[in-house]
Amino acid sequence: MSCCIVLGAQWGDEGKGKIVDLLSAEAEVVVRFQGGANAGHTIYPDGRKVVLHLVPSGILRQGCVAVIGNGCVVDIVELAEEIAALRNMGWSVSPDNLVLSPGAHLVTAMHRALDGVEGGKIGTTGRGIGPTYADKSRRVGIRIESLLDGSFPERFQALASRYRAQLHELTGEVPPDFVVPTEAVEVVRPFVRDARQLILDAARGGRNVLYEGAQGTLLDVDHGTWPFVTSSTTTIGGALSGAGVWVDFTARIGVVKAYTTRVGHGPFPTELHDEVGAALQERGKEFGATTGRPRRCGWLDLPLLRYAIDVNGLDRIALTKLDVLGGVDPIRVAVGRYDNGDPVYEDLPGWAEDITAVQRFADLPTACRDYVGFLEEQLGIPAAIVSTGAHRDHTLVRSSVW
Ligand code: GDP
Ligand code: IMO
Ligand code: MG
Repeated sequence: MSCCIVLGAQWGDEGKGKIVDLLSAEAEVVVRFQGGANAGHTIYPDGRKVVLHLVPSGILRQGCVAVIGNGCVVDIVELAEEIAALRNMGWSVSPDNLVLSPGAHLVTAMHRALDGVEGGKIGTTGRGIGPTYADKSRRVGIRIESLLDGSFPERFQALASRYRAQLHELTGEVPPDFVVPTEAVEVVRPFVRDARQLILDAARGGRNVLYEGAQGTLLDVDHGTWPFVTSSTTTIGGALSGAGVWVDFTARIGVVKAYTTRVGHGPFPTELHDEVGAALQERGKEFGATTGRPRRCGWLDLPLLRYAIDVNGLDRIALTKLDVLGGVDPIRVAVGRYDNGDPVYEDLPGWAEDITAVQRFADLPTACRDYVGFLEEQLGIPAAIVSTGAHRDHTLVRSSVW
């Protein structure tokens, strides 16, 4: 039996969805344990683009059960739409392969409205994430279990009147009438099941379980660049509380983009404001999958990656978007910090070739292999997976993680 975890090592959008999709070929359960529809995981399983926000990426594999754990916050309208979109594309989604924990908290239109008013200073995704986690901590939120016991409409109305008053006070405007999303309740209810027990049975039964992180280490509410963070524990500790089962992770994979990006406000020491940054943004198609916002781009930052390794106990990396660096010469990497906090850079030679179609690591250009080797040496852990393009088969698996 193996339990593997895939976590973002930077500020999100590292390519976690693609890596989870790849590894789920051998998983029987894939678990999301935190976050909500702020996530945007883009996958090309068969040449067609699939963007997942709430549904774990394992949904695209036959025989794999996708679990939304108690640590997640779930907008049931968004979830119902995502299920419909997947079915329209021909993917099968049923209570047999998608399970929603009764302990997860509901994101409502009220939470989204408040996020819209308050989230601007952080540059949130506007998906109601912060207000929902705040309500969970304040013990006034609504849990998914209320869809089963029939208490949801009453709880929704009570919360709506509190929020209407608060929104009125904050904006001076008359807030909208928030309506109970009855259709979404009917769609989502059949998926609610004891997720914790399912994960426990799978792990104890010797089956492969894969944990899918959302966001990234530097967006963690405790360990990220607070207050410019999301509102959940995106790091490894969140996996245990957000699924409710102790497991011993046999592979702890940090997904690392070959350069750095960030969406929203907050510090970014290696950010580029020049034509190299613009080229990375264009060639890497660095526009948010959830909000369409351009992602800020910069050089790889090894001190931040060493931090992510320490926080999560990462034992290997999956290096993504290496192809995007093609034609960038020299390639800069931050290897340390000066006393004033500025990055210390080292320059490495670039390569000109398109590496997308390369099938074996040994066939990559020398400078490209040297770049990977330099990162491995600096970080002290191997790059077990190297991704050279967005599609499933654009991947060099150098050592098995299962
Ligand atoms: P996630 O949130 O960590 O799952 O990452 P996103 O899906 O938001 O962003 C990663 C983007 O890069 C997606 O559009 C992927 O299709 C794409 N992608 C992933 N790996 C690679 C790669 O190796 N090369 C290129 N060019 N694109 C990639
Ligand atoms: P995936 O899973 C990148 C960022 C937002 C904002 C901050 C807080 O696709 O990697 P929130 O809406 O969570 O309260 O916003 O976090 N953010 C992400 N950035 N990828 C994500 O998810 C993100 N989810 C949230 O841009 O700066
Ligand atoms: Mg994303």
